[in-house]
Amino acid sequence: MATANPKVIVTRKLPDIIETRMMELFDTTLNPTDEPLSQDQLIEAAQQADVLVPTLTDNIDARVLSQAGENLKLIANFGTGTDHIDVSAAQDQGITVTNTPGVLTEDTADFTMALILAVLRRMSEGTRVLRGGEWKGWAPTAMLGHRATGKRLGIVGMGRIGQAVARRARAFGMSIHYHNRNKVLPEVEEELEATYWQSLDQMLARMDIVSVNCPHTPATFHLLSARRLRLMQPNAYLINTARGEIVNEDALVAMLEAGQLAGVGLDVFEHEPAVNPKFLAMDNVVLLPHMGSATLEGRIDMGEKVIINIKTHADGHNPPDRVLEGLL
Ligand code: DGY
Repeated sequence: MATANPKVIVTRKLPDIIETRMMELFDTTLNPTDEPLSQDQLIEAAQQADVLVPTLTDNIDARVLSQAGENLKLIANFGTGTDHIDVSAAQDQGITVTNTPGVLTEDTADFTMALILAVLRRMSEGTRVLRGGEWKGWAPTAMLGHRATGKRLGIVGMGRIGQAVARRARAFGMSIHYHNRNKVLPEVEEELEATYWQSLDQMLARMDIVSVNCPHTPATFHLLSARRLRLMQPNAYLINTARGEIVNEDALVAMLEAGQLAGVGLDVFEHEPAVNPKFLAMDNVVLLPHMGSATLEGRIDMGEKVIINIKTHADGHNPPDRVLEGLL
């Protein structure tokens, strides 16, 4: 049953403007310390709330859900990815799950493009050299990277973010290739002059740069397996701004150690926030702490979506951003 003034529990600190509005609209409990909740604290929250507002740092698994209170009817996730929520268990218990799609597309695509350029042009290494006082001045053959123009970019996952990456990459003179469950609309393919590869294996073997932009689901876990990574050319680059679990990280480290890839740009990690220490010592790896969608504007838009989802649900309607297990 929808509740007019639902008890909403938010698990992490959100932008002030969003927290203020949530306090005005709902019976809201915030987390001003921003400390991630333990599993026991999550269970307690699920027992007390009508609506839980988690983020990707909360593991809402079947154990948490099985102990949720009868009143918990909505999990309004602050974020697009819902791989940290057992959506199917929630659905079985009659709990609606929503997310915040669309509003972080442009920010994540900007960030992906920045990582592509940073890796090609050795920006992380250049920063290290300069900050470490090692720079001896300009030299004709120093810090040579590679040109973006003319490179073949293979996008794994041609949803909203993949397409936004493709648009940017076109402007940099790259040719666009993609692998997706389905071909995108012909007009989108035409606009992006994009080539569809039904076989991921074949695409990987022919690209200069591969960008991972698909969601993490059981079907995409280690989609870039050791075998598939080995198909990439030794002068190719891999960029991941989606989820760490999509790439077999141990295999990636081994390939970098063996010089079988030119470079990697990672904003996400398989065991976040842990980062394989071997990456830290590699100059051809650009590492960033899952900040692809981290703009103030984006976070406010995400918060607005959360509010709209809660309000619509409280008013007895289907919230706009329902996540349906079968569609992931
Ligand atoms: C999301 O919303 O899933 C993003 O990964 C957050 O950056």
